[in-house]
Amino acid sequence: MSDTTFTPRVFSGIQPSGGLTLGNYLGAIKRFVDMQNEGAYETVYCMVDLHAITVWQDPGDLAHNTRELAAGFIASGIDPEKSILINQSQVPEHAQLAWIFNTVARMGWMQRMTQFKDKAGKNTQNASLGLFAYPALMAADILIYHATHVPVGDDQKQHLELTRDIATKFNHDYGVDFFPLTEPVIEGAATRVMSLRDGSKKMSKSDPSDASRINMTDDADTIAKKIRKAKTDPDALPSEVKGLEDRPEARNLVNIYAALADMTVEQVLADHGGAQFGAFKPALVDLAVSKLSPISTEMSRLMADTAEIDRVLARGAEQARNITAPILKQTYDIVGMVSG
Ligand code: AMP
Ligand code: TRP
Repeated sequence: MSDTTFTPRVFSGIQPSGGLTLGNYLGAIKRFVDMQNEGAYETVYCMVDLHAITVWQDPGDLAHNTRELAAGFIASGIDPEKSILINQSQVPEHAQLAWIFNTVARMGWMQRMTQFKDKAGKNTQNASLGLFAYPALMAADILIYHATHVPVGDDQKQHLELTRDIATKFNHDYGVDFFPLTEPVIEGAATRVMSLRDGSKKMSKSDPSDASRINMTDDADTIAKKIRKAKTDPDALPSEVKGLEDRPEARNLVNIYAALADMTVEQVLADHGGAQFGAFKPALVDLAVSKLSPISTEMSRLMADTAEIDRVLARGAEQARNITAPILKQTYDIVGMVSG
C-alpha cells in the first residue's frame, strides 16, 4: 500500500439502464446511505450514464431512467447536502481520465472480465468497443476522486481488483505515488440478492421476467404478490445458518429479510427458525412493504418535479469538478501533457 495519506472518500455508481431493483437497493444504495451517515467519509454517488450506453439505450428512456435513479437515491436517504450526487457525463474528467487508463490497462486484463463476457454474449465481435473498455472508465470514475472506499455488490469485485491493477501500473510506470489502492466494501447480508424465481441467478433489472425481481417502483400489492409467489422449498426454516446450505431460495429470502430489518442472518433464524414459508413469507411481505413503500412514494413525488432533480444534479456536478479538475490536471502533468 502507498505511503501517501488520502482523504477518506467514498465513490460508487449505478447504471441508469432500467429501473432500480431490490438488489440495487440492498447491495448498494442502502449501504451508500449508511456510509454517508457514518460521517467518516466524503461521499460521492453517481448515475453512470456513460456506462449505460455501452449497450443500446433509447435516448428518452436514458433521460427518464437517469432522473428516476436520482429520485431513487434521494428517496432512499442520499442527502445532496451531505453527499455529492452527479450524472457521470456532466463531469467530463471521468471520460478524460478514462482515456489515459485505456492506455494503461492491457487487452489481456479486459478479456478476463466476466461482466464483459456475460454482457457481450456469444457474439463478442458485435459488442461495442465501449463495453470492452467499460472497466477502465469505472476505474476512472473512482480514481478521478482519489476515492479510498467503494461500496458495491459482490458482482463488482473483479472490476475493483482491476481498478487497483490500473492504479498500481500507472503509479509504477510513471514512478509516482499518485493514485490510491481503493478498498472494495462488499459487506452485509445482501451483497448478492438472487432472483425470486431462480436462486442460482442474480436479481437483475435486465431479467425478462418481472416476477424475478422487486422493483423500487412496485406498489404494495405487487411486492406482496411477488414474495408470495417466490420459489421456495417445502421445508421449514432452519434455526442455524448451516441449515441454509444447498437451499439457495430459502437463503435468499432470509438474507433479504436480514438486510431489510438491519439484522444478522443468525438473528432472523433465531426468530423464525422452525417456521414454514406459509408463515415467513407474510412476515417478509410486511417488512418489505413497510421499508419500500415510503421510498417508492417519495420517488413519485420527486419525479413530479424533474426541474428540481436537474438542479440538484447541476449543483452536484459543480461540486464534483472542484475535486476532479485538479486531479486531472495533476495526471496530465505526470503524463507529460503540455498545457501551454
Ligand atoms: P447496476 O445496476 O449493474 O449498475 O449495479 C449497481 C450496484 O448494485 C452495484 O454495486 C451492484 O453490485 C449492485 N447490485 C446489482 N444487482 C445486485 C444484486 N442482485 N444483489 C446485490 N447487489 C446488486
Ligand atoms: N459497474 C458498476 C455496475 O454495473 C457501475 C459502476 C460504474 C460503478 N462505475 C462505478 C460502481 C464506480 C462503483 C464505482 O454495477
